[in-house]
Amino acid sequence: MELRDFGNGGKSGLRVSALGFGAMHLNDERTTEREAGTLLNAVLDLGVNLIDTARGYGLSEERIGRHIAHRRDDYVLSTKVGYGIPDVPDWTYDCIVQGVDAALARMRCEVLDIVHLHSCPLHVLEQGDVIRGLEDCQRAGKIRVTAYSGDNAELDFALNSGRFGAVQTSISLCDQVNLDSRLPLAQARGIGVIAKRPLAGAIWRFAERPDSYAEGQYWDRWQAMGFAAQGSRDWNDTALRFVAHQPGVASSIVGTSKLAHFKQNLAVVERGPLEAELQRELRAALTGQRQDWPGLI
Ligand SMILES: NC(=O)c1ccc[n+]([C@@H]2O[C@H](COP(=O)([O-])OP(=O)(O)OC[C@H]3O[C@@H](n4cnc5c(N)ncnc54)[C@H](OP(=O)(O)O)[C@@H]3O)[C@@H](O)[C@H]2O)c1
Repeated sequence: MELRDFGNGGKSGLRVSALGFGAMHLNDERTTEREAGTLLNAVLDLGVNLIDTARGYGLSEERIGRHIAHRRDDYVLSTKVGYGIPDVPDWTYDCIVQGVDAALARMRCEVLDIVHLHSCPLHVLEQGDVIRGLEDCQRAGKIRVTAYSGDNAELDFALNSGRFGAVQTSISLCDQVNLDSRLPLAQARGIGVIAKRPLAGAIWRFAERPDSYAEGQYWDRWQAMGFAAQGSRDWNDTALRFVAHQPGVASSIVGTSKLAHFKQNLAVVERGPLEAELQRELRAALTGQRQDWPGLI
């Protein structure tokens, strides 16, 4: 699997695989303990080195600690903080610093490579304490890269603040709002970019509009762009290659609970960029008002 410099012209020292593993589904609703262990180890054995998780993903962090901490040198570890520390208010300096310590303990390691503020609201970012918390953890050698995970005005703040080495944001066929100016800005500033939700929830799998927050909205966008009418296309291939080879995207993290899907995604990314004509066609599907569709958080 292709490894790419992660932001800062490679000065962060991190190199990440073009396909990353989104560990959001490693919770006990979608995977057993055994399946989670098998999946995590197989992902690394296949040469993918970016594992992305968060405090909010159920058992995901604990399972990473249990099943792959013994091979910590094989992966770049990305997580998210900002909430979920007992008796500490969310989105405070203490919550960030204690959140980093708790993540280190759960994932049984001494350093976290990339730590995001997880969808932190704009007014909290502007106030500054949470960013200071991340930076203090970085100075203490507990994290390598400070990062922001989110979209829209908050993402603009993060990109322009000069305080973050990386961002994680939604980029997909149905989430193209970042392509024209934010991605080039990140590239120019040496900020590493992780594309989240790259398959737009693989919306083409569904016969009816799904109920969930993101998938429901992706369904609406999918219909509006006229993609639903092009039923015969291999959408998995088209959608993932569209994102994974956008200039400025270091890694695209697909969330899956199934090894077969993961292997399929790996083969897709390895096929390289889409043909230029198809790429233009897919960009053109987002013209007019649709260009302003906000990034789905
Ligand atoms: N605010 C944030 O920071 C934030 C928000 C959302 C996501 N994320 C990160 O981004 C990652 C990816 O997001 P996501 O999982 O919502 O979105 P996604 O990658 O767009 O879609 C994942 C969905 O596609 C399915 N899928 C994956 N590969 C497939 C394949 N080859 N064929 C058919 N279906 C396939 C998965 O189900 P199966 O399990 O059936 O494969 C899953 O339901 C997450 O794991 C998380 O790390 C971060």
